Amino acid sequence: MLKGKTAVITGASRGIGKAVAVRLGKAGANLVLSYRSNDAAMDELIESLEKDGIKAVKVKGDVSNSDDAKELMKVAKETYGSLDILVNNAGITKDKLIIQMKEEDFDSVIRVNLKGSYNCIKHAAKIMMKQRSGKIVNMASVVGVSGNAGQINYSASKAGVIGMTKSAARELAGRNITVNAVAPGFIETDMTKDLVEKAKDGMISGIPLGRLGLPEDVAEAVAFLASDSADYVTGQVLHVDGGMVM
Ligand code: NAI
Repeated sequence: MLKGKTAVITGASRGIGKAVAVRLGKAGANLVLSYRSNDAAMDELIESLEKDGIKAVKVKGDVSNSDDAKELMKVAKETYGSLDILVNNAGITKDKLIIQMKEEDFDSVIRVNLKGSYNCIKHAAKIMMKQRSGKIVNMASVVGVSGNAGQINYSASKAGVIGMTKSAARELAGRNITVNAVAPGFIETDMTKDLVEKAKDGMISGIPLGRLGLPEDVAEAVAFLASDSADYVTGQVLHVDGGMVM
């Protein structure tokens, strides 16, 4: 399905990014995996991908740094000759109620989640526009749509990602580049570990499908939007949340 395509996935060392890497790799894509710090986790992932016959290279860096984002796209083009898919997955949370939220906690979440996506889209688009093809999938969140107490910074960043997705979709459509977002609900990863332990039952009662999501649930939606099956889909936000936000 993605045979011979080059996919860049940010924040791929664990959680949803890792599941996306495995899913796109199994569909035949050659992978460029960005990560910020955990060398051991990334090396382990690359080794297991290679055992399955999947080509993958790693690029260490911070997506909120424009030069790092540029380097990531350059590695993709130089290693595999094209850049077909960008999955903007890297993200952080720094949850606090607004009156306790430090300015730096607001700024850092916006910088990684929103500006990081901007940096990556910008540098990827330069290559994709020349190719006249590309698929960009941004990781939003249902809280970017519904809001969530304690996540003013995070929900603002994800609402921003949704707006950015729609604007980029309009700008890049003429060059045959689609831009969509996936909005996961509560997915069991390191990001939500503490939250889940404290409030799992209460959270599940608000999910019509009656369970938390798995990283693999999100990876399936990304794989669809990154594939030719979604050629006529752009500017959309696909919720993967068990029906939590409708
Ligand atoms: P995670 O915390 O398990 O993984 C995040 C990944 O992003 C890590 O590999 C981390 O190293 C990387 N990262 C963080 N900052 C970075 C930076 N500046 N530059 C490069 N890489 C960086 O998180 P999880 O749960 O896998 O989340 C992935 C994405 O999905 C995030 O954008 C998150 O906001 C989003 N999401 C997650 C939900 C959940 O319930 N887990 C729900 C909705 C959205």
